Amino acid sequence: MDLGIASRAYIITGASAGIGKATAEILAQEGASVLLCARGEERLRGVVETLGRAERSVRGLAIDVADPASAEKIRDAALEAFGRIDGVVSAAGMSTGEHLRDFSDESWMQAYQVNTLSAIRLAMTCVPVMRERGWGRIVTVGSTAGRTADPRFASYGAAKAALMNATRALSRAYSKYGILANCVMPGLTKSESVLAGYESAAKHMGVTADDVEHRMLQLEPIAMGRTGTPDEVARMIVFLASAASSWTTGVNIQVDGGTLRDLP
Ligand SMILES: NC(=O)c1ccc[n+]([C@@H]2O[C@H](COP(=O)([O-])OP(=O)(O)OC[C@H]3O[C@@H](n4cnc5c(N)ncnc54)[C@H](OP(=O)(O)O)[C@@H]3O)[C@@H](O)[C@H]2O)c1
Repeated sequence: MDLGIASRAYIITGASAGIGKATAEILAQEGASVLLCARGEERLRGVVETLGRAERSVRGLAIDVADPASAEKIRDAALEAFGRIDGVVSAAGMSTGEHLRDFSDESWMQAYQVNTLSAIRLAMTCVPVMRERGWGRIVTVGSTAGRTADPRFASYGAAKAALMNATRALSRAYSKYGILANCVMPGLTKSESVLAGYESAAKHMGVTADDVEHRMLQLEPIAMGRTGTPDEVARMIVFLASAASSWTTGVNIQVDGGTLRDLP
């Protein structure tokens, strides 16, 4: 199957680690030009250098997507580097793991800034550019946490639920102009931040990181009996960012090894 990605240009946020990095790798391998965004300059530079070998068109921009001024800077950097924008993948996101009982306006606003507003703002900033060609792809990264209410991740879950709703609104508004918008909902995926979380919990509990994962799987069983890898989630993102997904829009699709039990 031809994904129709070569010669297209994509913006990927959260691209220095985990799912965003895995997405950037596949898009670059498929011949796309990619602008990688994340805050930490050093880690980002390492990924850009690695992906940029083999004559690929790879750029990096160190930027905080929670900053309202970031969207225009990202759009302008992509246009300056590639002269076009065909797709935007918003993978930047974070959970503080804060329990509902610790509610504060500030932490909820931060969760919305990073997980929701950043993606919608960037999409809305790039829509006019994609409309000029009558072709575009917006892929947001939600979470199974956006579909299951859990007081342990209340602000994160609410922010991802809002992102999923807003992604469908983007789809309703712009699909008729050739700009398709979809959201991928990963289940527990072994990214850099998840592995760091295992390590710190293991230290705290006096057990191994494998023990931590085992306990998590007992608490939240996954039908496949294992967690996912960033690459497994990235492949779905790449499909939705590609020309192959020509009749798929407004979808919130779980890539979770069978974590969610309810019907959508
Ligand atoms: N891993 C999972 O189990 C899982 C499950 C469900 C959903 N998700 C979602 O999947 C996405 C990726 O998560 P991940 O676990 O694969 O990645 P990760 O290891 O947590 O890495 C996050 C990436 O986003 C960047 N980032 C974070 N905050 C940012 C900000 N304010 N501005 C710009 N870049 C930012 C990070 O770089 P810097 O820190 O240098 O900025 C890094 O490149 C997130 O939206 C997450 O909510 C993950």
